[in-house]
Amino acid sequence: MAFAIGLLVLVHIFIVLLHFRIIIVSDEPQVPCYFIFGDSLVDSGNNNQLLTKWKANYPPYGIDFPEGATGRFSNGRTSADIIGGFLGFDKFIPSYASATDEQISKGINYASGGAGIREETGSHMGDRISLDRQLLHHNSAISRLMLLQEDITFLEECIYLVNIGSNDYINNYLLPDNYNTSHKYTADQYAEVLIQQYSQQLETLYDLGGRKVAVFGLTQIGCTPLEVNKFGSNGKPCVESVNDAINFFNDRIKPLVDELNDDNSDARFTFINVTSILYPQGDLSLRTNPCCELVDDWACIPNSVPCSIRSLSTFFDALHPTELSNVGIATRSYNKLLPTDAYPYDIHSLARL
Ligand SMILES: *[C@@H]1O[C@H](CO)[C@@H](O)[C@H](O)[C@H]1NC(C)=O
Ligand SMILES: *[C@@H]1O[C@H](CO)[C@@H](O)[C@H](O)[C@H]1NC(C)=O
Repeated sequence: MAFAIGLLVLVHIFIVLLHFRIIIVSDEPQVPCYFIFGDSLVDSGNNNQLLTKWKANYPPYGIDFPEGATGRFSNGRTSADIIGGFLGFDKFIPSYASATDEQISKGINYASGGAGIREETGSHMGDRISLDRQLLHHNSAISRLMLLQEDITFLEECIYLVNIGSNDYINNYLLPDNYNTSHKYTADQYAEVLIQQYSQQLETLYDLGGRKVAVFGLTQIGCTPLEVNKFGSNGKPCVESVNDAINFFNDRIKPLVDELNDDNSDARFTFINVTSILYPQGDLSLRTNPCCELVDDWACIPNSVPCSIRSLSTFFDALHPTELSNVGIATRSYNKLLPTDAYPYDIHSLARL
């Protein structure tokens, strides 16, 4: 009897220890920090205080987000938020606009709706934080961090997510009345000019300690309700000329990633192929009705009532994915399903390298 009780106590202690260990393990993120650069696809509120029409800090945006309308351009979490959860971060990464000095060491979200690789991109609607300015913000965040701690080499173990370039098409090249890029360049030349600038920006990120960098390709922008409504698609689901233009850019990211990794022996850049994730086997026949009523051709009308079953819509407004689409993008960029989803690493492997 005493033996049986002793055994029970031992088993109990073992289970408690196991439980404790599980809690400790799941509490600890897989990487020390996680930094996010990009546009409205991953913005978490950096535009809220800017003088701009690129805003989403009003309902129905955030209708399925725990804190409501925060400036995220979706009904719920962005793909960057969801990936943060997969990496083991129990809180959302704070926006640069709201981050305190103590928060910098775990990561910051610099993304800004309307922003592009090019400085002028998105300017017709007001202010936005271009990728060059996001990198300046990262530089000053690191300076603030160095006042708190001497050793910042842990920045090399962190995950860096970069999701930008869509606005260089939607809010630049595809708006010939506002921007002159389409007068100056063919689609092929424009993609090359963009990639050259992007390459320098990613090198800057490397110089600031970024080693594990996930570079997101563009979705098939010609399939967004905005572009289909604007150009018409001849009964097809997508505007082919728009997809042809952005694919010149997408096709150059994989070679760019190879080049960055070859030039810097300790760099681990990887390409996330959003087209492979959302449109496997080139199937472009996704449901493309936005979930909310639109103003300015793309945004939800403030305080309008969105569709009730958000899980049936790919898009929340005319450009931005619903949370469910973001879950799909995040899940397969974290753990690739098809070999084409991520090259050479998915984010799960990137974290473990
Ligand atoms: C094209 O636009 C850029 C930026 O908006 C401007 O600096 C440049 O002068 C323009 N070039 C021409 C030829 O209009
Ligand atoms: C990305 O995925 C699409 C769709 O599967 C495919 O056609 C394309 O070749 C892929 N790109 C790369 C660089 O693997």
